[in-house]
Amino acid sequence: MSTPMFSAGTPPMRTVTVIVDGVPVAVPEDFTVAAALLMIEQRRPWRRSAVSGTPRAPYCLMGVCFECVAQIDDQPNCRTCLTPVRAGMRITLGGPHDRV
Ligand code: FES
Repeated sequence: MSTPMFSAGTPPMRTVTVIVDGVPVAVPEDFTVAAALLMIEQRRPWRRSAVSGTPRAPYCLMGVCFECVAQIDDQPNCRTCLTPVRAGMRITLGGPHDRV
């Protein structure tokens, strides 16, 4: 098991539940999807490069690099660093080329 890259901080935070790859996860309500997912433990890479197959993850966290894309509520290629979490949001990491 890997260690989460960020922790929630000391004050209690209000959370919402999102569905990440079919698994309900409580995340802070004011976070972007990328920040929330970086806070929780990931069992596999965010996604893989379509060209090289190397693992990818959020890089710029400001909407420029497109390394953080994921499917959100059936909409593919959403920049998770620009998308605030919402209760019940369905997030699917990876893409068709990741499913090997
Ligand atoms: S992390 Fe760069 S666009 Fe989202």
